[in-house]
Amino acid sequence: MTTENLQRPPAEVRFADELTRLREADTGDRPPGWWLSMEAARRFIVGDESHGISRKFVGDVSLIDRALISLATSRGLMLVGEPGTAKSLLSELIAAAVSGVSTLTIQGGAATTEDQIKYSWNYAMLVSEGPSTRSLVPAPLLRGMAEGRLVRFEEITRCPLEVQDCLLSPLSDRVLAVPELEGADAMVFAREGFNIIATANTRDRGVNEMSAALKRRFNFETVFPIADFATELALVEQEANALLQRSGVKIAQDRDVLEVLVSAFRDLRTDKSDRLTTVMSTAEAVSVAHAVGLRGWYLRGERGSAADIVDCLAGTAAKDSTDDLAKLRRYLEQRAAKKPGPHWAELHGARHRLPG
Ligand SMILES: Nc1ncnc2c1ncn2[C@@H]1O[C@H](COP(=O)(O)OP(=O)(O)O)[C@@H](O)[C@H]1O
Ligand SMILES: [Mg+2]
Repeated sequence: MTTENLQRPPAEVRFADELTRLREADTGDRPPGWWLSMEAARRFIVGDESHGISRKFVGDVSLIDRALISLATSRGLMLVGEPGTAKSLLSELIAAAVSGVSTLTIQGGAATTEDQIKYSWNYAMLVSEGPSTRSLVPAPLLRGMAEGRLVRFEEITRCPLEVQDCLLSPLSDRVLAVPELEGADAMVFAREGFNIIATANTRDRGVNEMSAALKRRFNFETVFPIADFATELALVEQEANALLQRSGVKIAQDRDVLEVLVSAFRDLRTDKSDRLTTVMSTAEAVSVAHAVGLRGWYLRGERGSAADIVDCLAGTAAKDSTDDLAKLRRYLEQRAAKKPGPHWAELHGARHRLPG
């Protein structure tokens, strides 16, 4: 695959060099079917400065250990949490480390069907030669089972319940029936290395609606927002600068501007009176920081400013309700005015740029 010009290549391509080095130096025991040892997989995710492995997920290391252990058992792994807490990123990184590929992915939604999960048919061939392994078109679940790899199921709770339940026998009996085929081909047995990582947002239709039978087949792990201000700021800075570089912006962001942005996000996420109904997640902060940098560079040829934050916030913060816009306006008028320094003053000064 040529990876030039791709907007976002998968983790195994973005970090191909790190993965190769980890695998070459990997002396640990690997669980059956795994591409890396557990120890190397963990280092790929949380980083290891002395070996030039970048930190990709910020947070509790013991969560990574529990997640990896779950995947080596016969239960699936369910990552739950607020939107924008890096559940999808984590599942991608884990799949890249454990299986060498993160692209056996099913995106859950109201219209997800069993065909998109298990397999479908090449209809031209089905008509001309009937059902056969040649006319079968494997979907991620069948491929993951046959190849012994991790399958990612994103936002599983957005799928209809009966569709979710098609994971029951792959998870418990490790077999997928293909009743259209005959003989040995009618049963696909999972190879070592196969398992499922699902993610679910607590803001969507909840995991409590999921069938008890399916819940029993997963270990649940909650991914929490980043607790510490300095850690969140450092992550937003690193991610936003990487995005800006890829967007052709030649200067890094102003740290003081990012500091204002991240504290405003934290206020709007947690404060009782200012809390918005829209989720002001770290992922949203990264995306606003990216937009702020783009405005500065492509509109004026300089770094993004605190005033740019106001322009970029409106589209992020006022999605769910018009109350949010009013709250945001009040925040910029009152709270921002009381905070120290020229960047807060600029943020306050730009409050009239909010629409409406
Ligand atoms: N703890 C974290 N570690 C690393 N990146 C994080 C973290 N929390 C949020 N992010 C940022 O959010 C982005 C990922 O969000 P995503 O995986 O789509 O979240 P979710 O699936 O939980 O909605 C990352 O690319 C990163 O920029
Ligand atoms: Mg996600």
